[in-house]
Amino acid sequence: MIRKLALSTLTVAALCTAPVMAAEGGHVHDYAFSFEGPFGTYDRAQLQRGLQVYNEVCSACHGLELVTFRSLADTTGPAIDADTLRAFAAEHEVSDGQGGYRTATVTDHFPGSSLENAPDLSLMAKARAGFHGPYGLGINQLIHGMGGPEYIASFVTGFTGEETEQGGAIFYENSAFGGNVAMPPILSDGLVEYSDGTEATEHQMAQDVAAFLMWAAEPHLVQRKMWGFVGVIFLVLLASLLYLTNKRLWAPIKDQAKNS
Ligand code: HEC
Repeated sequence: MIRKLALSTLTVAALCTAPVMAAEGGHVHDYAFSFEGPFGTYDRAQLQRGLQVYNEVCSACHGLELVTFRSLADTTGPAIDADTLRAFAAEHEVSDGQGGYRTATVTDHFPGSSLENAPDLSLMAKARAGFHGPYGLGINQLIHGMGGPEYIASFVTGFTGEETEQGGAIFYENSAFGGNVAMPPILSDGLVEYSDGTEATEHQMAQDVAAFLMWAAEPHLVQRKMWGFVGVIFLVLLASLLYLTNKRLWAPIKDQAKNS
């Protein structure tokens, strides 16, 4: 009986850990982003740099079709001013709905992916988790967060330089992905020239674009945290009032009990 039980426990343990270990795969670096923690906010300058990297580099293949140009004016986001925004939108072309193209205006969405197998990046920071485990428990996510932006920054800097050819297509080994991907290594030091004078190293660009994509996926993060904080204060107040009310309601009965 005990042997049977021990055997089945072992089998279950083996079955449980196998897929988890496969999922843990690649190595993701834990970057310190400004928007982490209960009071973290987006760094406006970083979002603007990330937008520049997205626009000049990633958008050659990827799309961002759930994001509107006008949302770039959000004061808790990149906070692009109205004139710059109009000029920025006008650099893009969108479908006119009749098979042709027209110049974009601020109310339009970013174009979709131009490369068929390149995924849209609108929600990528929420669709990937950088941290897992241990053993599928997700405790690492409690401590470090989901790690979507960390995954993106690690992914775009994670190319090992190994290439393999499969069925006529070239695949590139990526340490964050934990395998081969169809995306080639793109970033290299000095690829863009930042207008705010920040040095455009590979890791700087990776973190900036990851922060920008986090904002794209969750533009209301700052408001959400603020309302969460207001909610907690409200609950603390409510709890103390309820405590006092409870004391008061029971006071006469307690007195009776004491006197009898
Ligand atoms: C030359 C085209 C090209 C460029 C430029 C490019 N990508 Fe990609 N990217 C791809 C393709 C193709 C895939 C799909 C890879 C696959 O699934 O094998 C991909 C996949 C991804 C993924 C998803 C990885 C996953 O876990 O599935 C992320 C994140 C990503 N790219 C981010 C970026 C960022 C950020 C930039 C700009 C710095 C960028 N890419 C520039 C072609 C490109």
